[in-house]
Amino acid sequence: MAKSNQSGGLVNTQGSMSYLILISIVAAIGGLLFGFDTAVISGANAYLKTEFSLSSIMEGWMVSSVLVGCTIGAGIAGTLSDSFGRKKTMLLTAVLFTAGGLGQALAPSLEFLIIFRIICGMGIGMASMLSPMYIAEVSPPHLRGRLVSLQQLAIVTGILVAYMSNSIIAHTGLADANKWRWMLGAEVAPAAIYFILLFFVPESPRWLTKFGDMEKARSIIARIAGSEVANKEIDEIQKSLKQEKGKFSELFKPGIRLALIIGVSLAVLQQFVGINTVIYYAPIIFKKTGFGAASALGATVWVGAINFIFTLVAIWLIDKIGRKALLLYGAVGMGISLFMIGLLFDLKAFGGPWILIFILLYIACFAASFGPVVWVMISEIYPNKVRGRAASVATMSNWVSNFVVTLLFPVMLDALGEPISFWIFFVWCIVSFIFVARLVPETKGKSLEEIEKSWDVVSFEEQ
Ligand code: BGC
Repeated sequence: MAKSNQSGGLVNTQGSMSYLILISIVAAIGGLLFGFDTAVISGANAYLKTEFSLSSIMEGWMVSSVLVGCTIGAGIAGTLSDSFGRKKTMLLTAVLFTAGGLGQALAPSLEFLIIFRIICGMGIGMASMLSPMYIAEVSPPHLRGRLVSLQQLAIVTGILVAYMSNSIIAHTGLADANKWRWMLGAEVAPAAIYFILLFFVPESPRWLTKFGDMEKARSIIARIAGSEVANKEIDEIQKSLKQEKGKFSELFKPGIRLALIIGVSLAVLQQFVGINTVIYYAPIIFKKTGFGAASALGATVWVGAINFIFTLVAIWLIDKIGRKALLLYGAVGMGISLFMIGLLFDLKAFGGPWILIFILLYIACFAASFGPVVWVMISEIYPNKVRGRAASVATMSNWVSNFVVTLLFPVMLDALGEPISFWIFFVWCIVSFIFVARLVPETKGKSLEEIEKSWDVVSFEEQ
């Protein structure tokens, strides 16, 4: 472990891998709350519908209001975290989760419930960009992909925990009118724990360097990776910071503009391949293929489990075979699965387990590729000074696209039927494959500063 001596030098040369893993896990709890909060409504929905006699429009608004909060949260997190630091902004996120959970549990009316869902959503939106960015900024290049993917593992764990906690609460003897309150309030405990644990993580050394606190930054990197690495990294970070002023307009300079286009496009494609049609509507899809209500819920648990297992596969592979290969294989696998799901619906081949098998294959391919890799790339492809703001723009695009797909999917099913709806997502997989093959660079093993320099080369070539 390294400590600064009085002259500001470092007296210890060893880093600590377990410290790095611990602070990454704490940051990733933001992802757990993200996953929990987006999935919990699937169980609370039915009770809320009865309690407030919701029309289908109000039901849609009640479910998707959280996504409005996510978009706002993702939009402000960049400026806040560039100005006040990653750590303080993560603390604010934990406060929003805690207040949002408590507020929903105690809401005296539908209006209050929706206001607190939006507040929770702001927490989700902020966490969705902050946790990966913070982890990317403290990680060494050769482990960055794996550690940032912990965020996606936390998201899918949160989704599973929400399904499980909903089912436990549904089976208790509580009055129905109280069940949704417990379901929506269950996040208060992990959110409060997140708040407390955040006091033990250090500020991001890259953010500290930007504000001239080099010695603190140096001692944090030394504690993580050893003092030799710290001296080298601080030099690199300082050099990179001299290149930019940190203004919003810099996002549109030639090299960075390409990075912005790539981040935003990946964020949009992650949603346009249709993942949340399955995550949010799985029981409805399964019922259409002839499953009974109970077995449809059982099949949904399979979706959660496969999502979790294949995220582990991504964590294993992302720093070995790289981001780009995972995205390409993922697009092919998802494309084949979606084409087959559409075909099976078209042929009304509901007899065997085939639709379930291809839905699980689709989830496996997403979980091992676009799920984690997109968040990893958004956190690492932008220059130090504008990283927060650029990641905000990309993350907002992800939430807006999520909102559009989630809202349109039931309408698409009604207007176009299942085969065409799934084939539309299949076409987006083809678009994704071509986009990744032609434009997305490989960032495996490079330091954030090396990635930053590679955009300069692109901008030079573009002029
Ligand atoms: C996506 C979410 C999705 C989740 C499913 C995340 O990477 O951003 O929209 O619900 O993966 O595992």
